[in-house]
Amino acid sequence: MKILAFVASLLLILAVVALLVVARTTPDAVDFDDVELEPSVKHFLETHSWGGRGAANVPAVDGQTLHNIVLEKGYTRALEIGTSTGHSAIWIASALSKNGGKLITVEIDEGRHRQALENFKSAGLSDLIDARLGNAHEIIPALEGPFDFVFSDADKGWYKNYLIAVLPKLEIGGCYTTHNVGGWLSGSFGESGDYMDYLTNFPNMKTTVDNRGRGLSISYKKEIGK
Ligand SMILES: C[S@@+](CC[C@H](N)C(=O)[O-])C[C@H]1O[C@@H](n2cnc3c(N)ncnc32)[C@H](O)[C@@H]1O
Repeated sequence: MKILAFVASLLLILAVVALLVVARTTPDAVDFDDVELEPSVKHFLETHSWGGRGAANVPAVDGQTLHNIVLEKGYTRALEIGTSTGHSAIWIASALSKNGGKLITVEIDEGRHRQALENFKSAGLSDLIDARLGNAHEIIPALEGPFDFVFSDADKGWYKNYLIAVLPKLEIGGCYTTHNVGGWLSGSFGESGDYMDYLTNFPNMKTTVDNRGRGLSISYKKEIGK
């Protein structure tokens, strides 16, 4: 009897763990009700809600947030670090298309870069996206700017260096966002914890974290003293 109870408890624990893993790795349901998208963008996002193994695309909730910030603030000069296969770039560029803006995005992996180019074509956004293939460690500091919107989503250990390189080129009123900082509030995110401590100590950056998706920090640059 005791053995049966033990096995049953073990199975229950395994089932709970499996559910947690599935919830963490399965793409969230895509609900576009509260955001107006061009038919080609909507079609792309509906049919490619997950970019495949290793692509690590933003979940729809974070994509929508990026889109809405760009649209509402009227941003036109956007930069993304870490294109992967281009889902977040499509969300951002879709908003830029309504504002008359453009996006530069950087990816180091040639296969993902090529897939992103295909995806931008499918979404009808190629003309708005300057997709660069190469190491962002070198490309980002060499960019002239200025930018009014930045999405940092490449190698987490370099987040701080990207911020240092880009912040002087971010306009006052501009927005700097960073992905996967979700554990920061609970102090469990290692390198990103250090990054968030660094980011939130800038007197001219007002930062909040949206934890509905994978943890998105949203920082607005203000004039010092304001
Ligand atoms: C989390 S994925 C980006 C997902 C993408 N923003 C999206 O939502 O569709 C991170 C990407 O950054 C790229 N990456 C990592 N280090 C890089 C570097 N030093 N330079 C450029 N890209 C880099 C990876 O190859 C990977 O495709």
